[in-house]
Amino acid sequence: MQPDEIKKKMKIDIITLFPEMLESFFSYSILKRAQNKGLLSVNMINLRDYSQNKYGSVDDYAFGGGAGMVLQVEPLTNCIEDLQSRTEYDEIIYTAPDGELLNQKIANNLSLKENLLILCGHYKGIDERVREHFVTQEISIGNYVLSGGELAAAVISDCLARLIPGVLNDEQSALSDSFQDGLVAPAVYSRPADFRGWKVPEVLLCGDPKKIESWQYENSIERTRQRRPELLSENELMH
Ligand code: ADE
Repeated sequence: MQPDEIKKKMKIDIITLFPEMLESFFSYSILKRAQNKGLLSVNMINLRDYSQNKYGSVDDYAFGGGAGMVLQVEPLTNCIEDLQSRTEYDEIIYTAPDGELLNQKIANNLSLKENLLILCGHYKGIDERVREHFVTQEISIGNYVLSGGELAAAVISDCLARLIPGVLNDEQSALSDSFQDGLVAPAVYSRPADFRGWKVPEVLLCGDPKKIESWQYENSIERTRQRRPELLSENELMH
């Protein structure tokens, strides 16, 4: 199949308090190329545009007390419903430290969707009623707390964009990435083959694709064993 025949466009809308923070991130490298090729569109929606007051505030104290502000249910609902009146979302994702830990499998599944809405949390979080009534998936990018969900939205978008058919060219194929087959990627080398006597493994220079592939596979397994042994036990049945 030619790349043109499998082309599909993914749309990612991101609700954020800091659109400028994300805009530059989406203006470089693969994310930029995906948009230029018409395979991805990314739109930042400023939650403050849905504020109920002239100050543009969208947060308030938590009922019951405690430190930290909460993003309010009303501006969030108005914002999400306004977007939903124009787009039917396959998933509404909330970025939160207590969400499901992002991994390649989640990314692969999400990359098959067409319309995604990502809601970036801030401060103490968002009013729980938004999670109950709108959010369909909650994703964490690690067991640590960020000051906002923007970095998480950027991470999620980046790892999805490179999976959209046609975004990467053959040399960059996502299929050879770490984690794609449950293993970390093999070591890679480039010219010169000998630098200060630090030599590239001989087999990579031999020109025999079978031998090279076999070395890369063994190297992947060895590196996974050394660096991420838990992946091997998770994938025992696959290999
Ligand atoms: N917001 C704050 N911390 C986060 C995390 N670890 N992952 C996703 N969103 C977050």
